[in-house]
Amino acid sequence: MTAADAIDIAVRLTDVRLDRGAHTVLSGIDLEVPRGSITAVLGPSGSGKSTLLAALTGELAPAAGTVEVLGQRVPHRQRDLLELRKGIGVLLQGNGLLTDLTAAENIALPLRTHTDLPRAVVDRLVAMKLHAVGLRTAGTLYPRELSGGMARRVALARALALDPPLMVYDEPLTGLDPIASGVIMSLIARLNATLHLTSIIVTHHVHETLPVCDRAIVIANGRIVFSGTPAELEATDDPLVLQFLRGEPDGPIAFDTAVRSEAA
Ligand SMILES: Nc1ncnc2c1ncn2[C@@H]1O[C@H](COP(=O)(O)OP(=O)(O)OP(=O)(O)O)[C@@H](O)[C@H]1O
Ligand SMILES: [Mg+2]
Repeated sequence: MTAADAIDIAVRLTDVRLDRGAHTVLSGIDLEVPRGSITAVLGPSGSGKSTLLAALTGELAPAAGTVEVLGQRVPHRQRDLLELRKGIGVLLQGNGLLTDLTAAENIALPLRTHTDLPRAVVDRLVAMKLHAVGLRTAGTLYPRELSGGMARRVALARALALDPPLMVYDEPLTGLDPIASGVIMSLIARLNATLHLTSIIVTHHVHETLPVCDRAIVIANGRIVFSGTPAELEATDDPLVLQFLRGEPDGPIAFDTAVRSEAA
């Protein structure tokens, strides 16, 4: 990645192969995510969407090819990796909030862990993050006192705590009703624009997600089978992509039931 590239491209994968044990999950992956954009990563269950995110955060090293994030190759050394991860806000499906901490304490956690800012500054930053996700008065509540949509927003605020330039979301709408889903999607879009972030959203929720995205990729059968704008996706006549979009059980996408039931 050249210096000029690093300014324009937040994530670049070049001929990447990702293995889990002896099993190749993805291969021949080429992907460029421009800075400032929102990209949807779509594909059937078990196709390797979460695995792709794991390669961006350095949790999984590529078996082949190169993964570059925020202008550098994802490092191997643990200390360098921790430094890179400060720049990546991650929102996982389960929220991952600590149940014995309040919302505010959960959001403060990354600040306390990764900075030595004085308490008053941390409190101030936490209040700003709560405000950013529309939960100004919820700081003293414990996770069990939050609705699913509120808990997701607290997790989002925590992912934003260190002002990461790159946000990755793994199934941010799971378990939410259509209204809460709409709130989360518009929040993701608004934060991306106002904080000048780059966002990558892994999701099954095609119709809720596409309207806020600049680009979409579809993963199936171990590779990227579509890459383009949402409008191009809607217009596709690729049978593989159509099968996924229409949720049809029979078609060119192979269902790896043996592996899935083992994993479940
Ligand atoms: N930690 C792991 N160890 C071994 N195999 C794994 C691991 N994580 C994922 N896999 C395998 O990699 C493949 C892709 O899994 P992945 O979780 O990336 O799929 P996904 O597209 O995120 O699916 P879903 O939509 O259900 O979340 C699956 O076959 C899965 O069994
Ligand atoms: Mg997944």
